[in-house]
Amino acid sequence: MEPSQDRKQESLASLGAAPGVRMQGGTGAGSFHEFSMLLQSALNVFFQPKLCFAITTACEKLLGKSVDEGYAKADDLFFALADFGCASASSTITNMDFMIKCVLSLTSFLSRREDGARTRQLHIQALFNDLPSNDFNTLFSLLAGSGPLSSEVDMETGGISLKNFVPFGVPGSFYRRLFPSRYLSVAFSALALHNLSMVPEAVEDQNSPAWNENGLWNFDGCKSETALEYKRQFERDFSTFMAYRSQELLSGGLLFCVMIASNRGVEGMHSNNLYENLQKAWRELISEGLLSQESLDTFNLPLFLPTLEEVKEMVEEQKEFEVLLVEYVAVERAPANAWKKFAAADGQMWGNTIQTMTRNFMGGLLEPHLGVPKFEMLMQRVKELAAADDERFRSSLMGTIVLALIRK
Ligand SMILES: C[S@@+](CC[C@H](N)C(=O)[O-])C[C@H]1O[C@@H](n2cnc3c(N)ncnc32)[C@H](O)[C@@H]1O
Repeated sequence: MEPSQDRKQESLASLGAAPGVRMQGGTGAGSFHEFSMLLQSALNVFFQPKLCFAITTACEKLLGKSVDEGYAKADDLFFALADFGCASASSTITNMDFMIKCVLSLTSFLSRREDGARTRQLHIQALFNDLPSNDFNTLFSLLAGSGPLSSEVDMETGGISLKNFVPFGVPGSFYRRLFPSRYLSVAFSALALHNLSMVPEAVEDQNSPAWNENGLWNFDGCKSETALEYKRQFERDFSTFMAYRSQELLSGGLLFCVMIASNRGVEGMHSNNLYENLQKAWRELISEGLLSQESLDTFNLPLFLPTLEEVKEMVEEQKEFEVLLVEYVAVERAPANAWKKFAAADGQMWGNTIQTMTRNFMGGLLEPHLGVPKFEMLMQRVKELAAADDERFRSSLMGTIVLALIRK
C-alpha cells in the first residue's frame, strides 16, 4: 500500500533529512538526468583534475607508500568508493566512472611487478547514497545499460583484472551513519551539501526575531537574524556530515566535496538568481491576486549556500582530517559546449531550462505547499520571466567550493 504523503514526509524527517528534498526521477524531459547532462560538462572540466590528484594522494596514504612502492607490494586490492547525494543522473554515472578510472590508472603500476607471476585482482565497491525518495530504479537501469561503468566490469588492464566491480544502493540521509567504521577509501559528494536536514525552527516561528516573514530563501535580502539561523543550521549539519564520514573513512581515505557556494562578497558575482527568479514570479502572482501573501510567508527552503570563509572555518575545526585543498571556483554556466548551445538557442528554451532547474531543486517542496494547480501556475511564470530576462542567467557564473580532505 502507498503510504500517505504526510507519512512519507515524516519518515524522511526521522531520517535526518528535510522532507520534500528530491530531484525529478526518470530520464525524460525535465528530469534531473536530462538537466545534469548540461551542467556536468562545465563542472567536469574544473573538478576532475583536482579529484584525480586527490585520489592519487589518498591511494599513496592508504597504501602507506608511494604509489609505485605500495602497489608493488600490495596483495589483492579493495576500494570502497561512495557517492553521497548521488541522484539518478548521467552525472552520477560520470562521477563514479571517473573515480574508478582514477583508481584503475594508478593500479596499472601492478603490471610493473618484478615477479609478474600472478594477476592481482582489484575489488571495487561503488556505493551510491541518496535519500530513499531518490529514483534508485532509474539509477540501476542506467548502470545496467551501455554506460561506461558496465564496460569496465571485465576490463583487463596490463595484468590487473577488475573482476569485482559491484554497485550498491545505500538509501538514507548522509546526516546519519551509513557505513561500518574504517570502511571507505573515498567519500565523494557533489552539489548536495547545500541541502540542510531541516528549515531552522526559529525561521518559521512568527514570535521569533528570526521569523522569515517574506518567505522563500533569499539570503542576501533576508534579516540578519534569519541569516544567522540558517548559518547555524548549516554548521550543525556540516559538522554532523563530517563527523560520520570521519568514522567511516579508512586512515588515508579521501573526503572530496564539490559544494554550491554563495557568491556573497565575491566581486562581480550575481548571487542565487534561480531563487530570485522564483521569488519575483511569486511576488508577481501575489500582486495579481493569484497567490496569497501567506503562501510566500509560510514557505522556507531547507537550503544554505556557504561562502568559502564559512567552509574554511568549519574545516579548521576538523581535527581528524588533513586539508589537501579548500578553494572557491567560479564555474562558467555557459562555456563553449552543449550548455551554451542549448541556452543560446532561444529565450523559450532557456525559460524551459530555468523551469526544469527550479522544479528539480525546489519542486519537491513547492508542489505540496501550493497544491498542483498553483504550483504549475508558478512554474509557468518562472519560465516566462526567465525567457524574457535571459541574459543575466546566460552570462552568470556558478560559485562552487571544492574540498579535499585526507582522514588522518
Ligand atoms: C543536485 S543533486 C546532486 C546529484 C549529483 N551528486 C550530481 O552531482 O549531479 C542533490 C542530491 O542530494 C540528495 N540529498 C539531499 N539531502 C540529502 C540527504 N540528507 N542525504 C542524502 N542525500 C541527500 C538529493 O536527493 C539529490 O539527489
